[in-house]
Amino acid sequence: MSGLSRIGVAIDTNLLSKFDRLIAQRGYTNRSEAFRDLIRDELVEKTWESPDSQVVGTVTLVYDHHVRLLNEKLTSIQHDFHHAILSTLHVHLDHDNCLEVLVVRGRSAEVRKVADVLISTKGVKHGRLTITTSGAELK
Ligand code: NI
Repeated sequence: MSGLSRIGVAIDTNLLSKFDRLIAQRGYTNRSEAFRDLIRDELVEKTWESPDSQVVGTVTLVYDHHVRLLNEKLTSIQHDFHHAILSTLHVHLDHDNCLEVLVVRGRSAEVRKVADVLISTKGVKHGRLTITTSGAELK
């Protein structure tokens, strides 16, 4: 069972000032929520280190759809990993560029693999894997 614990933290005054400025910029109204988010972020990161842990995330890709066979290649890769891709959003950014966001879920190792293969495909201008959590294990 989970309750609320209060802790005291000794921290360098300078470091705390910097932290307060940072969290104010990010819109936090108190330190406690900022500390909790930092801890959650570390815990989510930790989950991804284990190749067999179940994870959720997004892969963002930007590419020029005129590059020969690139669309076909990216689609083919996505079909190879269809069980790890829940949904895809495609936006035509301008005449040349496409933005794709894939929602991915599965074993950490496989989700990383599909992201690496897509992002490293020739013609993809930029790509990023964002890791998150299903939230089930976080309060
Ligand atoms: Ni497009």
